[in-house]
Amino acid sequence: MSKTIIVSNRLPVQLQISEGKITAIPSVGGLATGMKSVHSGGESLWIGWSGLTQEEIPEDLVGDIDEALAGQGCSKVALSQEEVDGFYFGFSNRTIWPLFHYFMEYTEFEWDFWEAYEAVNRKFADAILEQTSEDDVVWVHDYQLMLVPEMLRAERPGLSIGFFLHIPFPSYEIFRTMPWRREVLAGLLGSDLIGFHTYDYERHFLSSVRRILGHEVSFNEIHLDDRVAKVDSFPMGIDYKKFHEAAIRHREMKPGEESDLQQRLNSHKASTPNAKFFLSIDRLDYSKGIAKRIKAFEYFLQKYPEYKEKVRLIILAVPSRSLVPQYQLLKKEIDELVGRINGEISTVSWTPIWYFYRSLPFDNLIDLYTTCDIAWLTPIRDGMNLVAKEYIATRTDQTGVLLLSEMAGSANEMHESLLINPNNFEQIADSLHQAITMPVSEQIARNAPMQKRLERYNVEKWARDFMDSLKAQQNRDYSQVASRLSVDLTNTLIKTYREAKRRILFLDYDGTLAGFRTDPQKAAPDEELYELLDNLYRQENTDIFLISGRDKDTFDRWFNGRDYAMIVEHGVWISENNAPFKMLENVKNDWMDKIRPVLESFVDRTPGSFIEDKNYSVAWHYRNTDPDFGQKRATELNTVLTSLIANDDLSVLNGNKVVEIKSSNVNKGRAAMRMIARKEYDFIFAIGDDWTDEFMFQELPKDAVTVKVGRMKTQARYYVDNISSVRGLLQRFVEP
Ligand code: ADP
Ligand code: G6P
Repeated sequence: MSKTIIVSNRLPVQLQISEGKITAIPSVGGLATGMKSVHSGGESLWIGWSGLTQEEIPEDLVGDIDEALAGQGCSKVALSQEEVDGFYFGFSNRTIWPLFHYFMEYTEFEWDFWEAYEAVNRKFADAILEQTSEDDVVWVHDYQLMLVPEMLRAERPGLSIGFFLHIPFPSYEIFRTMPWRREVLAGLLGSDLIGFHTYDYERHFLSSVRRILGHEVSFNEIHLDDRVAKVDSFPMGIDYKKFHEAAIRHREMKPGEESDLQQRLNSHKASTPNAKFFLSIDRLDYSKGIAKRIKAFEYFLQKYPEYKEKVRLIILAVPSRSLVPQYQLLKKEIDELVGRINGEISTVSWTPIWYFYRSLPFDNLIDLYTTCDIAWLTPIRDGMNLVAKEYIATRTDQTGVLLLSEMAGSANEMHESLLINPNNFEQIADSLHQAITMPVSEQIARNAPMQKRLERYNVEKWARDFMDSLKAQQNRDYSQVASRLSVDLTNTLIKTYREAKRRILFLDYDGTLAGFRTDPQKAAPDEELYELLDNLYRQENTDIFLISGRDKDTFDRWFNGRDYAMIVEHGVWISENNAPFKMLENVKNDWMDKIRPVLESFVDRTPGSFIEDKNYSVAWHYRNTDPDFGQKRATELNTVLTSLIANDDLSVLNGNKVVEIKSSNVNKGRAAMRMIARKEYDFIFAIGDDWTDEFMFQELPKDAVTVKVGRMKTQARYYVDNISSVRGLLQRFVEP
């Protein structure tokens, strides 16, 4: 039976060893807390790092540790201190984390970190491969493991691989600054499905893929050489039931059953009945804006001094990544800020800020969520922020106010909360005032719909949606499009080829026999291709035609002295037996004067685009433009041309990053049909990659073997993945 393999750097439990004994504590952070609920429910294995380095684990405890982890459905990847330093404290948390959260000034680009990151990702991939069979589903999580999908794909092409990024994906302008941007994108593209919390992160990712790797993207699908990778947003939910039911149990507790923390909270509430508790909970991380929040609290008390002695800010900061220098500095800054403010404005009966720097057990978390009147969660940048969702889930009477940063992913789904910009102290102070004075009826009106959504789109549903989408992606039936030319089909095809008495082959050039280049003139044939074509030409009873949209002069230059036939400019010219090109179709070109100025105006306004003049057609190329912009301009050009050529016998061809205008009665299909009418052929073959080749696929007889390069919608019967598959196939034709 197939199983699901969850992979993340952190396992749901962190192991500790004290006095020769192993203890397991739950991991904090959105990924571990969220996925834990999904993992415990199903048939899955969770692979990750135990939290201990190899040096920290005594030999004699290795077996116990593996056993303890196996009991929780987990398996560890063992990492040395050096690996953890470079991979975790280094590249993950001193390069990716700050960069992806827009903290450029904290981002360090170090080769050593990168090398450690690559090596540890490889180690994870190896550990996964060891425990995975072909029909398993692997779900890789988060920024520490972005190279793993491609490493898995390289070893096991048929594996179903999903990836989810739990942090923001930054805009292209930020991402492009990273020296290893290509490697990271390629690593992620090993996945069948890549998930993000929000649409914004998704579109930032797609924009980087297009601009940096130049892949074709249509809607949320990325066309790779041999596959399609899908990208989508899935806002992560929480285990609503767990938090809501814990809060109900908490509400029903008798006084003696309450925790020490709860009793302390109660006694403070009792001593100042109108007092309000503000709650701030995060890992101690600069992206969470804790220091800013403390300063904003000070500002609030200056602007609204009437709330002195009436409000209290409870800060729970969970220790995190404490070996990273920026985190140490932040810890110091917060200690000092809290000390200074408490020192300056406390009174005998009032300490404005209570500050806890530790991880609290789940029950205490519920104490805080249920007792605090206002949750103040204002990260400067946050992938999601589950704490905000957890707070709302625990408000069983639907009271309470959530003050949430617009910069948190969760703000997209929680618009009934008071959304603030964490940098705007004026707005924060006024929103706190609004929160304190908000009527209960309004609190309920705001929280009720949020609760409903959180209950429905919970973490289980989130995981299910992701998995369903991953499965759908795997099972996508491309047969509606064309059948893949599998090994079996190819063998049958070769047999038919050999048995045929008279054969004709139509071979498109660009994107079929040779790859695209920034400068089309540079895409000249290589030696291997010449040899292949020569060998094809030498086959008995075989007519081969290069059939292209190229101009005749280029082909003249490239294939001068070769004997095979060529049809160029989509069918205007033909050359056979090394004779000069002659016209195959009688066409006019007097319309060009009208079109050219229009194309020139597009060139002027679209940096990187250029015009290619042919004898009987003219093309506007936009391969070298910004991909989004180029596409937009191509759409615009199509609209302009439609009205301009309405009364001419012209057509507009949208090829691969090119818009070409030519006579309507010329196309590759028509040209190919004229060729096959000349003799009796029992094997007709046509192969091509773009829209202009569709004319051949459409017009050639039904029993012709038509092949599209790339897995796209087509009229062809078959498809192959890429140029090297084309050459491989043609090579089979000439093998003895
Ligand atoms: P991040 O993933 O950046 O840490 P999130 O808000 O998405 O931020 O997730 C934090 C998770 O950690 C929440 O599920 C929360 O319940 C948990 N958590 C936060 N503080 C504590 C704490 N003091 N003790 C235990 N768990 C905590
Ligand atoms: C965030 C990240 C997680 C990470 C967690 C805790 O939620 O997205 O990948 O596990 O923070 O950080 P840590 O460095 O302790 O694993």
